[in-house]
Amino acid sequence: MEYSEKVMDHFMNPRNVGVIEDASGVGQVGNAKCGDIMKVYLKIEDGRIEDAKFKTFGCGAAVATSSMATELVKGKTIQEALEVTNKAVMEALDGLPPVKVHCSCLAEEALHAALWDYAEKNGVKIEGLKPPVDDVDELHHMENEE
Ligand code: FES
Repeated sequence: MEYSEKVMDHFMNPRNVGVIEDASGVGQVGNAKCGDIMKVYLKIEDGRIEDAKFKTFGCGAAVATSSMATELVKGKTIQEALEVTNKAVMEALDGLPPVKVHCSCLAEEALHAALWDYAEKNGVKIEGLKPPVDDVDELHHMENEE
């Protein structure tokens, strides 16, 4: 399987690994099929993402995409962060092999779940944000059936 240099770099030296103790929002998602789990922590101040960290129990592509996704959202507003889709993360990593695309969905969903958690805790509504699901695989299944 061919991985880009950027994927290898973010896998070998992942950025933003860890936990934010006083996180404004925490999101955890899993993919029942491969058993991988990803947890994202966000620190949000004045509608802007000041810090982002993650813990991933998963494959190399899951580690690389969570590393890149957290890098991309840092400093962004909540609305801008919503534009950090799995496609955007993959592009920033110079692509992923087709069988690894679902791993980037895990990163997007974990990020959205953390934003959802923040919105719930603060009683705000984030335009365009959908509620998180427990199993990402199920979500993409549903999307395909629509
Ligand atoms: Fe499941 Fe990569 S194989 S997240």
